[in-house]
Amino acid sequence: MTYQNILVERHDAVTLITLNRPQALNALNTAVLADLIDAFAAFDADPDQRCAVLTGSGEKAFAAGADIKEMVDKPAADFFLQDFFSGWQRGVVGTRKPWIAAVNGFALGGGCELAMMADFILASDTAKFGQPEIKLGVAPGMGGSQRLTRAVGKAKAMEMCLTGRMMGAEEAERSGLVARIVPAADLLADALKTAATIAAMPPLAAMVNKEMVNLAFESGLAQGIQSERRLFQLLTATEDKREGMTAFVEKRPAVWVGR
Ligand code: CAA
Repeated sequence: MTYQNILVERHDAVTLITLNRPQALNALNTAVLADLIDAFAAFDADPDQRCAVLTGSGEKAFAAGADIKEMVDKPAADFFLQDFFSGWQRGVVGTRKPWIAAVNGFALGGGCELAMMADFILASDTAKFGQPEIKLGVAPGMGGSQRLTRAVGKAKAMEMCLTGRMMGAEEAERSGLVARIVPAADLLADALKTAATIAAMPPLAAMVNKEMVNLAFESGLAQGIQSERRLFQLLTATEDKREGMTAFVEKRPAVWVGR
């Protein structure tokens, strides 16, 4: 499948998806979203693909936000009737397999929100995160006010949303927004290597681990702990559980079958 606005490559069991509108700093318009929904669905459905990396083309930006030129003249009623931005939750956040955002340069507005939809963010030392929507007379619309606040806490999230200031990579790592900082030149190789590590894990367990950590992020503690225990119990029924534990006892590497 070829796309107009993204590039998709397979690196063994890792799918690399690259936002590809560098002339617009990879701004996220409806066509980009449609391509991403299709690419993430194909990744989720392909039994040979185990982990994905999402990055931006060009050195300057991961994505500089939702496409302002697409929104500038759109009537408010159309935003409501189209339930504008709802596809991100269904088609991107809904991905069941793990995926990493490799953030190079600007991740602003919808770009920051898209990065936060990933299971975790690896940032280049040049990365800059921000929710500058207030400067456009609006506010985040793709989950940013919620995910940023959960990631970095109220004080920093409020300051960033109210002033539109950007956060550099070091502050983002210190604040818990990103998992790790990587020199810009090494970012993609590091992200692919990290994804390959995840891809080599038992796939059902990878999906369940993802679901569990997201539960902690999205639900209350009691519900999260109850659901974690049930999901753990579910995993004990898999062949990979028998293989993983038997391999440990027999002091040999495990061979995963994905069942
Ligand atoms: N939408 C559409 N086009 C964009 C864009 C966006 N979000 N961000 C950048 N571009 C375009 C610019 O219009 C420009 O195109 P032209 O060459 O045709 O003029 C091109 O990308 C390069 O951008 P700049 O010339 O502005 O580059 P710069 O280096 O001077 O500045 C920047 C970089 C600081 C990131 C600046 O581009 C900028 O502030 N962009 C907008 C950031 C923003 O406000 N994002 C939030 C969008 S709203 C949103 O995301 C809503 C939501 O909640 C989901």
